[in-house]
Amino acid sequence: MYEIDAAILMNQNVWQASGHTEGFADPLVECTSCKRRFRTDMLSEPFPKEISEHMDEHHKKNENQLEFKCINCGKMNSTKVRQFNMMFKTHIGAAMDESGISYLRPETAQGMFVNFKNIVDSFHPELPFGMAQIGKAFRNEIAPRDFMFRSREFSQMEIEYFVRENEWEKYFEMWRKEMLSWMEDIGLSKDSIHEVEVSPEDRAHYSKRTIDFEFEYPFGKKELYGLAYRTDFDLKSHMEKSGVDLRYYDEKANERFLPHVIEPTFGIDRTVMAVLLSAYTEDEMGNEKRTVLKLPYSLAPIKVAVFPLLKNKLELVEKAKDIFSTLRKTIPAIAFDDNGNIGKRYRRQDEIGTPFCVTVDFQTLEDNTVTVRERDSGKQERISVDELPPSLKVE
Ligand code: GAP
Repeated sequence: MYEIDAAILMNQNVWQASGHTEGFADPLVECTSCKRRFRTDMLSEPFPKEISEHMDEHHKKNENQLEFKCINCGKMNSTKVRQFNMMFKTHIGAAMDESGISYLRPETAQGMFVNFKNIVDSFHPELPFGMAQIGKAFRNEIAPRDFMFRSREFSQMEIEYFVRENEWEKYFEMWRKEMLSWMEDIGLSKDSIHEVEVSPEDRAHYSKRTIDFEFEYPFGKKELYGLAYRTDFDLKSHMEKSGVDLRYYDEKANERFLPHVIEPTFGIDRTVMAVLLSAYTEDEMGNEKRTVLKLPYSLAPIKVAVFPLLKNKLELVEKAKDIFSTLRKTIPAIAFDDNGNIGKRYRRQDEIGTPFCVTVDFQTLEDNTVTVRERDSGKQERISVDELPPSLKVE
């Protein structure tokens, strides 16, 4: 897997070859009365069934004309559906003419296709291999909403996995399993994830098979991640448009061909949202309500908090500071807190998802043991300071 960091602003030629200048559009209608604009798929959601059925029927009769009741002002409309390209356009260079038109990338994927030859020529990888990129993507969304679910500036993590054409199904399945296992690792329960096979008419222009992984957000079941078989669409189009030979040379078979691509794609903002929604828990502990963030250990921003039982007992504070400094060598994401009573300190750490709290008390001074309290169960155990680092690690 080769990680790259490609350009965010890319020339129009890239987006013409990828099909984005032509096809990366949302169907848009404007209310003739209040002038609010809507994506057509937004219109059916808050409507009673009779109206949305009527809309679908009408939509079938005439693809470009839509009859709908405005969800803002309530007026009936019969209006044209326009295709609205979602890329942000700008000019590069001083001359504001056609030749300088560039776009902010609407996906990180294309940066990998246009750098494919650099990776092949520099590292001579054997198939299958992947390229990966994390970074910002920009889309002029008509209706950004639902907190960070749909925004105009967001982050993606994408992998383009290059395979031989006759092996695409095998690697599609491999990545499907990898993605499910990743979702489990970040604490999303199996029940909250739904795999949806995207129908041919709803698939992106480049895809021959797509699965959407949907998550149960409070505002409904919606896309979290996608997995697509992009065929050789992108490399072929870039090769045709640029005139540069992007074929892969297989030394053993002595053949040149364009690899096919499996693309697992992950929105980071939606990941953060799904992780927080899954981890957020309100329960009861010691007859009190508490709020706890049940984050997996790997995602908890602080892994361990060390407390002296009492703030004004110098010997306890010194011992706690000693333990804190030693632990910090192996567990850098660590906190020290001596503020307020122990119960309050536990609650504070629960709220930010700290898996373990270590309390130094008078017994520590006698036998070098501490109380280790586990976040989810509240269970407390007496552990020798020397055994601390291994007993605080959970992966
Ligand atoms: N390269 C393929 C691609 O970009 P996509 O389904 O359009 O596919 C991939 O986007 C992921 O990016 C989505 O599954 C979602 O997690 C995230 N995403 C897309 N649009 C977004 C937006 N407006 N705001 C936040 N995340 C978004």
